[in-house]
Amino acid sequence: MKISVPRGTCDVLPANSYKRAYIENAAREISSLFGYKEIRTPVFEHTELFCRGIGSGSDIVRKEMYTFEDKKGRSLTLRPEGTATVMRAIVENNLCQTGYAKLFYIGPFFRYERPQEGRYRQFHQFGLEAAGVDSPLLDAEIIHAACSFFGKLGLENLTVQLNSLGCPECRPAYREALVSFFESKKDDLCGDCKERLAINPLRVLDCKNAACRAIAADAPVMLDYLCPECSNHFDIVKKALEVYGINYAVNRKIVRGLDYYTRTVFEVVSDQLGAQDAICGGGRYNNLAEEIGGKSIPAVGFAAGIERTAALMEKRGCSFGKEPAPEVFVVPFEESCVMKAAEVLGRLRNSGISSDLTYSKKNIKKIFRDIAEAGADYAYIIGPDEMAAGKISVKSMKDKAQAEINDSEAVEFILKGRC
Ligand code: HAM
Repeated sequence: MKISVPRGTCDVLPANSYKRAYIENAAREISSLFGYKEIRTPVFEHTELFCRGIGSGSDIVRKEMYTFEDKKGRSLTLRPEGTATVMRAIVENNLCQTGYAKLFYIGPFFRYERPQEGRYRQFHQFGLEAAGVDSPLLDAEIIHAACSFFGKLGLENLTVQLNSLGCPECRPAYREALVSFFESKKDDLCGDCKERLAINPLRVLDCKNAACRAIAADAPVMLDYLCPECSNHFDIVKKALEVYGINYAVNRKIVRGLDYYTRTVFEVVSDQLGAQDAICGGGRYNNLAEEIGGKSIPAVGFAAGIERTAALMEKRGCSFGKEPAPEVFVVPFEESCVMKAAEVLGRLRNSGISSDLTYSKKNIKKIFRDIAEAGADYAYIIGPDEMAAGKISVKSMKDKAQAEINDSEAVEFILKGRC
């Protein structure tokens, strides 16, 4: 039987991997611009971290985790998201002991979801987490950083949808109002939402089912139940976003799929992405540190999906930069010239000039076609005549012009051409 990649995963081949690297470079530049430093955490954690951190009532914990026992019978889970993991590391390493921590990460995450366009079982996120400060200015900073990341990639005019989910002071009254509203319409909700009503009633608000959406349209909204502190926090976030020149729309129905959020939540969406329209999501999570056994550490963050970012860039025709290609291909004309070609190749590489050798034994026309396809600037042809005369024939792959240079000028010729 032929073995293929597991469902919901894919190989990122060279024709696309440089595009991912381009996005990751932009992520690093934006992180540095906003003062965030990299953190690398394990891809698996104790299952308990996610049950307590994300919430045992969330869809992720109930249905989507890759959980397994190790050889000692410990329950481990492939990380379905980065926030709980990063907060575990902050608590464990006392990163907020003397102030605050601003961290970024890029890496793979795993969710056992039904694969479809834009939804995979292994996907990649770029995320920022700022912990140790409860200032609404930091919520705005996080949203600003997300927008700057997309802007850097040429993705302008995305919609930032903003909401507040209140805090443990004001949310219980809202939850009660929501449950009593949906209870009266329970028979018309989908099967999933009937379950959600008991476990996680807020999630009924973002069900995609048409009947549930119609019912949810008239449901009470959290913004009408915010306590004065949460209301003030939300107002300052909005003002700061205006100061930063960020277009946002308040969407009273955004609840997010993870249970740790308090106050600000947001999503960046695009109508060009089909059903999976969220390219980025985040918010404040002031109680997560305590949920996982630490002291109280207020925090806020976001994560952007790299696959969805790449897909949107493709749809909009954004640039991914230049695909890396060797500057020079050295072509030994026949077997007797191979060692000389290798010697020139070595000199080029030792001088920092990216170069390669044509190892194939195809005819010269095909070789030139391959070199052009590889994106090289020059072919250095070395045949017996060139060797005898101490020369190299140079072919420009751009304008097909041919010239002869001295063998000793192999490096200099390229360096001069760069100026
Ligand atoms: P999330 O909304 O679950 O939030 O995921 C963030 C982004 O990851 C989504 O907007 C989407 O672009 C991408 N994503 C999620 N699941 C998949 C999937 N199955 N396939 C492809 N892309 C996917 C979080 O993960 C939170 N940890 C964000 C956060 C950080 N909140 C505070 N700090």
